[in-house]
Amino acid sequence: MAHSLEGRLALVVGGSGGIGAATARLLAEAGARVIVTHTARSAGAAASLADSLPGSGHMALPADVADTASLLALRDDVRVRCGDALHVLVNAAGFTKPVPHADLDALDDALIDRMFAVNWRGQFAAIRAFAPMLKASGDGLIVSVSSIAGRTGVGSSIAYCAAKAGIDVMTKSLARALAPEVRVLAVAPGVVDTGFVPGRGADFNAKIAASTPLGRVGRAQDVAEAILACATSLQYSTGTTIVVDGGRSL
Ligand SMILES: NC(=O)c1ccc[n+]([C@@H]2O[C@H](COP(=O)([O-])OP(=O)(O)OC[C@H]3O[C@@H](n4cnc5c(N)ncnc54)[C@H](OP(=O)(O)O)[C@@H]3O)[C@@H](O)[C@H]2O)c1
Repeated sequence: MAHSLEGRLALVVGGSGGIGAATARLLAEAGARVIVTHTARSAGAAASLADSLPGSGHMALPADVADTASLLALRDDVRVRCGDALHVLVNAAGFTKPVPHADLDALDDALIDRMFAVNWRGQFAAIRAFAPMLKASGDGLIVSVSSIAGRTGVGSSIAYCAAKAGIDVMTKSLARALAPEVRVLAVAPGVVDTGFVPGRGADFNAKIAASTPLGRVGRAQDVAEAILACATSLQYSTGTTIVVDGGRSL
């Protein structure tokens, strides 16, 4: 198979979510052995996902990206079960809470801190924990899920936009720092039809479709395809963010 990921180990942090699960499936279909992580909320869904993937050796393991100790425990567990080399790390964990941008008081310190702990520090902490294993593979790849909110400043809250801008800049810095053994990329979706933002429904999707050049809301599969391309086709790319937004940010 062209661009086969046979013999490669992939870890999808946030692999039980919409984009994470679609990515896990494509990576497994390409031949990778896939580990998906879950929080306490989604242990059952993650285990079913791992069981349903094509190929063998897939598993679901717990990790909370806001808790670095749990990422280190995950790293140790993966090493014992799978050996010293990790080929692909996908950072697909994230959360948000809509806060109108003009309501400055509603974006309080606790929410800002949580936003950065989960949506920026957590991605960095996962990379920090797994960098030695990615380097050990000799041909490692990190793909973090950013958002066009990080460049447009339009998104569910100002802190969310800032955390995603931080993902884009971290991607550049780490691409320099981890080369040549590890490539570092990000993908920036526009609006994707998952359960990510509470309260989005059919009306919201119709409005988004009407105001998006390609005429539809994004699917988790669209983003997963871009992440797969980072692992297969885009071998000479590092330090950049690939926009997958149907032209929404134009
Ligand atoms: N959907 C969109 O419109 C959109 C647009 C642009 C960017 N994104 C980005 O895409 C990524 C994936 O989002 P999605 O749309 O797939 O949403 P989703 O279905 O809600 O998935 C989010 C994932 O993050 C995990 N997660 C949340 N908090 C976590 C924590 N503290 N530690 C570990 N995992 C945690 C969730 O796990 P549990 O289920 O176990 O809580 C879930 O697997 C996010 O980074 C998001 O910012 C989404």
